[in-house]
Amino acid sequence: MEKTSQMTQEEIQAILKEIKYPGFNRDIVSFGMVKNISLNENTVDISLQINSENTNLLNQLSSQIKNKFKSLGENNVNIIIQKPPNEPVQSAGQQNPVNQQSIPGIKHIIAVASGKGGVGKSTVSINIAAALSKNYKVGVLDLDIYGPSLPMLVDLHRQPEMTAEKKLVPLEKFNMRLMSFGFINSDDAPAVWRGPMVSRMTQQFFEDVEWGKLDYLILDLPPGTGDIQLTLVQKLALTGAVMVTTPQELALLDVKKGADMFGKVNTPVMGVIENMTHFLCPHCNESSRIFPGNGGEEESKRLEVPLLGQIYLSPEIAQSADRGNPYVLNCKDSPITAEYMKIANHIVELAEN
Ligand SMILES: Nc1ncnc2c1ncn2[C@@H]1O[C@H](COP(=O)(O)OP(=O)(O)OP(=O)(O)O)[C@@H](O)[C@H]1O
Ligand SMILES: [Mg+2]
Repeated sequence: MEKTSQMTQEEIQAILKEIKYPGFNRDIVSFGMVKNISLNENTVDISLQINSENTNLLNQLSSQIKNKFKSLGENNVNIIIQKPPNEPVQSAGQQNPVNQQSIPGIKHIIAVASGKGGVGKSTVSINIAAALSKNYKVGVLDLDIYGPSLPMLVDLHRQPEMTAEKKLVPLEKFNMRLMSFGFINSDDAPAVWRGPMVSRMTQQFFEDVEWGKLDYLILDLPPGTGDIQLTLVQKLALTGAVMVTTPQELALLDVKKGADMFGKVNTPVMGVIENMTHFLCPHCNESSRIFPGNGGEEESKRLEVPLLGQIYLSPEIAQSADRGNPYVLNCKDSPITAEYMKIANHIVELAEN
């Protein structure tokens, strides 16, 4: 039999670096998906670890890799694709393995994250959800224990009901199913809660909410990309993550940390949304840039993730949030709503392919 493995590990690694994960600008090596390359006498075995149930996408990726190697004369390449093991997060001080769960009945779970607080993550979450809700059954889970914002964003301040099986029934408004720690703990924010406690509460939240059938569940994560966030995203089989940033440099740097965090749990970052980019004058609809530079555009190029959209700074967005009426449902004809619709469509494209 002919000997096939003429290439070295490094050469193979370099070739794999040219393979983009389908639908993304980023290669499978930098995503951390390549776990092992073994050079056997007659074959090259490449083990990938990918957190996706999408067999079409996985088959497509497999053939893409094999074809690439074939074109370089390496014919006997085996691609082995595995789901990530349930590893504990060492840095979070966890000892027990954590299972990455999917929630029965929910097709896609999308996390909305930000490196820094106050960049508009909750506002973006509810508006993406509202945009998706025009065509899909959507839920929103506000995971910010310290500063839940969903009650205010949708102007709902009552306790959810419990089923006979002691499951929480999400509140319904604007044709969306909504759940927040703020509905349960409406008064004092439990600011003294520590990571493990937050993580336990959240875990219970995942299991104890009767979501029913949903196409999309949007998770509004607590701000930051530390251990709490990592533990949260590690527990759930996420379809992907969206990072929200403002154009200031610090926020942009933090996007990188977020991308690294999602990389650790093999969750694709679907893209970046730059919030409060331009100022849109409510009187003349003229827009002007507030911060210098190209902000999100440059950052998304550097991180090789798409810029999903840029949302203007607009007093009406803040007012809608304060009134508890999502902007997208409120101001149907504005360019900002059109941008949100574009973002939602892009997310759907990435999630369903
Ligand atoms: N595009 C925008 N134009 C004007 N105001 C905005 C915009 N996006 C968000 N805001 C306002 O900025 C403030 C912070 O937004 P938001 O609460 O969504 O941020 P966050 O990132 O979720 O914050 P936290 O880190 O506290 O969770 C809110 O008052 C909100 O109304
Ligand atoms: Mg928030």
